[in-house]
Amino acid sequence: MFTFRTATPEDVPALLGFWATAAENTSRPQDSAPAVENLLQRDPDALILALDPTDEQIVGSVIAGFDGWRCHLYRLAVAPDRRRQGIATALIDHAEARFRALGGTRSDAMVLDDNVSAQSAWWARGYRVQEEWSRWIRPLADDGRPQR
Ligand SMILES: CC(C)(COP(=O)(O)OP(=O)(O)OC[C@H]1O[C@@H](n2cnc3c(N)ncnc32)[C@H](O)[C@@H]1OP(=O)(O)O)[C@@H](O)C(=O)NCCC(=O)NCCS
Repeated sequence: MFTFRTATPEDVPALLGFWATAAENTSRPQDSAPAVENLLQRDPDALILALDPTDEQIVGSVIAGFDGWRCHLYRLAVAPDRRRQGIATALIDHAEARFRALGGTRSDAMVLDDNVSAQSAWWARGYRVQEEWSRWIRPLADDGRPQR
């Protein structure tokens, strides 16, 4: 089937190529190698990959970010030709296992309002919309930091 492991800095070029074709790329800043490397330096186990064991190609990803307080899931993506095979479900399972091991109690994901297939995947895994909240943002470009 598929194998799962955490990403290393060596995966970054292939991962950026994978995200360019497989991930949700609207309404967000462009991915960059320094941003991913920064993540891996700060939290080396946060980025979980699904791989095809026959050729080690990346077929899925999720970032399971835990800051000591909240459990955030980002960049859930599956290769277009590998969808509906349970990869996203398995990635979320791995991410939630990490959160539990770290003491997290609730997992969340940001999903675009018009991304119906993603909503279906999150719904299938038990996630529900928290209607009373909305996301507030302010770009930190003046600080020279990458925006995510
Ligand atoms: C959303 C996405 C990650 C789902 O990946 P996946 O590996 O195909 O999902 P799974 O196979 O684990 O699906 C689990 C369940 O989710 C639901 N689901 C997943 N994709 C669906 C779709 N396109 N339409 C309807 N339901 C869907 C189904 O209930 C499915 O179970 P089933 O196949 O037994 O019916 C994938 O479509 C993707 O990469 N999309 C582009 C990137 C994206 O939008 N990411 C999410 C950002 S929040």
